[in-house]
Amino acid sequence: MIQFDRVELRYPGSPAILRDVSFAVEEGSFQFITGASGAGKSSLLKLMYLGLKPSRGRLSLFGENAEAISRDGIPALRRRIGIVFQDFRLIPHLSALDNVALPLRIAGARESAIREYVPELLEWVGLSGHLDALPHTLSGGQQQRVAIARAVIGRPQLLLADEPTGNVDDGVAVRLLYLFEELHKMGTTVLIATHNRALVERFSYSCLNVEDGRVSMVRGPGMRRPVPRPVGDSPAERQRGG
Ligand SMILES: Nc1ncnc2c1ncn2[C@@H]1O[C@H](COP(=O)(O)OP(=O)(O)OP(=O)(O)O)[C@@H](O)[C@H]1O
Ligand SMILES: [Mg+2]
Repeated sequence: MIQFDRVELRYPGSPAILRDVSFAVEEGSFQFITGASGAGKSSLLKLMYLGLKPSRGRLSLFGENAEAISRDGIPALRRRIGIVFQDFRLIPHLSALDNVALPLRIAGARESAIREYVPELLEWVGLSGHLDALPHTLSGGQQQRVAIARAVIGRPQLLLADEPTGNVDDGVAVRLLYLFEELHKMGTTVLIATHNRALVERFSYSCLNVEDGRVSMVRGPGMRRPVPRPVGDSPAERQRGG
């Protein structure tokens, strides 16, 4: 799904942030991206949603060479990607409900479907009392959950989540990871950049580490052990009535 081949990234006037980076993300995988603050996790994700171009090397996405994707082709490609930005990027004049509904509206979903699914998802992330709230009236952790709901509502092929649990407590963080797992089970490839070591340990998925401009696999695929969790604690289970 994503292939980096000897990619280098440098911001104008700075030394290279990423150097000679080569790795592949298989379709259907679930991976964490770890690394110290400033290591380049957000920059790596930004390359993956074509927010930046590699300074050198080759990047391909969904089997297409990123270099060959025209400016006009970028919106179509982004519609296949759900992005949770580290700084949320909610639309300030839209309510929580309308922010989350946005990808569905862009995709031409029926308003009746929006009225059904969006409140259900916002309830699941603990925001049922805040459907009409504007972003600036919500706490950081609440805004983060709106951003997550917006990224997953359209069941994207690829989810890129940048520090998606950075502003919530541990219980909520685990619940949000269950949501990402549900999406993954429906076929989404999931990449999560996080500082949260405890979460990485608890979920035991593959892990890429960014350090000194390099990206290395610190925990490979196939090393995942099943995670016990309470019955009835996922959206799918809840839909089935627990
Ligand atoms: N727009 C930019 N222009 C110049 N340098 C930048 C820019 N964005 C990031 N950097 C630099 O690139 C490096 C990597 O930043 P990045 O945000 O990717 O790190 P990160 O691993 O996501 O950090 P954090 O864990 O704090 O979110 C940092 O040294 C940062 O200063
Ligand atoms: Mg970052």
